[in-house]
Amino acid sequence: MMSSYRCPLCGKGLEKSDRSLKCEHGHSFDISAEGYVHLLPPNKMNSKIPGDSKEMAASRSAFLDKGYYEPLLKELEHTVLELAKGEAFSVLDCGCGEGYYTANIAKTLKNRFPKAKTVGFDISRPSVKRAAKRTKEVEFAVASVFDIPVPDESFDILLNVFSPLSIGEYHRVLKNGGYYIYVVPAARHLWQLKAAIYDTPYENKEQDTPYEGFEHGETRRVRYEVLIENKEDIFSLFRMTPYYWKTSAKGAEKLSKLESLLTEVAFDIHIYKKQ
Ligand SMILES: C[S@@+](CC[C@H](N)C(=O)[O-])C[C@H]1O[C@@H](n2cnc3c(N)ncnc32)[C@H](O)[C@@H]1O
Ligand SMILES: [Zn+2]
Repeated sequence: MMSSYRCPLCGKGLEKSDRSLKCEHGHSFDISAEGYVHLLPPNKMNSKIPGDSKEMAASRSAFLDKGYYEPLLKELEHTVLELAKGEAFSVLDCGCGEGYYTANIAKTLKNRFPKAKTVGFDISRPSVKRAAKRTKEVEFAVASVFDIPVPDESFDILLNVFSPLSIGEYHRVLKNGGYYIYVVPAARHLWQLKAAIYDTPYENKEQDTPYEGFEHGETRRVRYEVLIENKEDIFSLFRMTPYYWKTSAKGAEKLSKLESLLTEVAFDIHIYKKQ
């Protein structure tokens, strides 16, 4: 069976055998016990952005599995089903993290279209390992958005939830007329979390950025409040945000005193169509 990935060394297709993926030039990539493949060549590993650590991946799983961001998941499932055309529909989740959205979307899509396929990758090995444990329905790999190991024009939908932007590669791998779904934090996302740790919190900038080769369609807004009633979940949320790295010891200490947190969450789902 052919893999949805291509060889990261020579660009040829990868044939799936029992425990590995191989190209016609004999480059071979092991399939891990969990079921993912490592397609990041060592010389392309960028130590500046190694991706989420093991601890961050664990926090993300713990937080997301409690359903705090389920309204976003539901809206994404709805959007993907709405845009899905034809039986053999394909979705690529770029920077899929520990696979919460990927695995759930794959399941929903499969229920409606049994021939649909979902593929997801992230640069963080601990995240991909967790993702692969969630489901066997998705082809997961360790890879970078800046050098995506899939052929040109091979996907109908590309999903990016809070992950780095690599617009040239996204354009390359999407089919003509395919959709790029880009989820970004809106102005008031996690406002009360920020207010708890910073003296002067700032709102996120909201913008509809035009990208060459794409037409910007609608922006779907997901806004609600979450009530987090225990310290562990507050800490998990904190650890999966960029604030974790940027916050002073004083800010982190303030947060550790909170017994509960009621915060706004605000996502913008931008839908772009490849022209
Ligand atoms: C904020 S997390 C979002 C993860 C997931 N989409 C979610 O919403 O749960 C950002 C993700 O981007 C990944 N990442 C960072 N640099 C990357 C790169 N160059 N290529 C692929 N993934 C990358 C990180 O490892 C992390 O999993
Ligand atoms: Zn090869």
